[in-house]
Amino acid sequence: MHVTPLRWTGESLELLDQRLLPGEEKWIACRTAVEVRDAIRDMIVRGAPAIGITAAFGIALAALRGDDVRAAAEMIRKARPTAVNLMWAVDRMLRMLNPFPPSARLGMTAVTEAEAILREDVEGNMRLGRYGAELLGAKATVLTHCNAGALATGGYGTALGVIRAAVDAGKKIAVFADETRPYLQGARLTAWELQRDGIDVTLITDSMSGHFFQQGQFDAAIVGADRIAANGDTANKIGTYTVAVLAQAHGVPFYVAAPVSTIDPACPDGSRIPIEERSTAEVTEVFGKSIAPAGIHVRHPAFDVTPARLITAIITDRGVLRPPYASSIAGIVNG
Ligand code: MRU
Repeated sequence: MHVTPLRWTGESLELLDQRLLPGEEKWIACRTAVEVRDAIRDMIVRGAPAIGITAAFGIALAALRGDDVRAAAEMIRKARPTAVNLMWAVDRMLRMLNPFPPSARLGMTAVTEAEAILREDVEGNMRLGRYGAELLGAKATVLTHCNAGALATGGYGTALGVIRAAVDAGKKIAVFADETRPYLQGARLTAWELQRDGIDVTLITDSMSGHFFQQGQFDAAIVGADRIAANGDTANKIGTYTVAVLAQAHGVPFYVAAPVSTIDPACPDGSRIPIEERSTAEVTEVFGKSIAPAGIHVRHPAFDVTPARLITAIITDRGVLRPPYASSIAGIVNG
């Protein structure tokens, strides 16, 4: 059974503390919307769809407690800026709960909706996985970046969902995982969850991917997404753009795997996607130990934008989108 990043107990939301993986598997209980907001902000839970699902349960907790649902929703919405699944889930919950008369029924309605978001995400990942698996040969080596796996979703994965579905279909898939500096989602999370499932995974540092592209090691690169603009430009973990450029330079297909809830039709292109800047300590320190001179200037954009022209296809839960993305995305969002 694949790992899941969260579970609803009936009265609290339990989150697997992803900051401690792979060393320790510790579950943290959230009982209020504030605790949920803090858990998203502090990366106890991360990955665009998982953040959205967590937000939905945070709003459900507010409704169950008789707290101000609208205020809770607006607080949670601001926890992280780039992953649009967060805003998508908050808006879906608000639409369902409007006009918010506090009652026991409101709490139950909110829990039911959050559970639906969770269930639909896992089902969508499995569909997306099957669509994506068809794009891979019977034997393939795939490069992935960051963690777009079970830990980043309701429990199956987008990029890693494609890999799981391909393995389940009997294909011989080997995965190379970028370590993903500075937060190390690749080394800590992707390597862990694939190894746990018995999938062939090799860990490399981000700076090694060019070398392996040059050696003809990769048949495809598959990554997740935090926000896909209406023209197909895609924000994902910092370093994704580098992988896309390398893939194009070496004639390797570059796939983005994401549910339709990651598409932001109101965002015309990548220049309008807000990019989160995170703490400089995540760059200057590794596990609390300083690796840079004190006082050094540091930048830490947590995401970058891959232009649509570098993306071979976008694998969604409603099918595989091909360029030109402005029309294929409009078709799927409106269809
Ligand atoms: O900062 P993170 O760990 O939340 O960033 C996660 C990513 O960039 C993932 O690739 C993306 O959210 C897709 S998860 C299916």
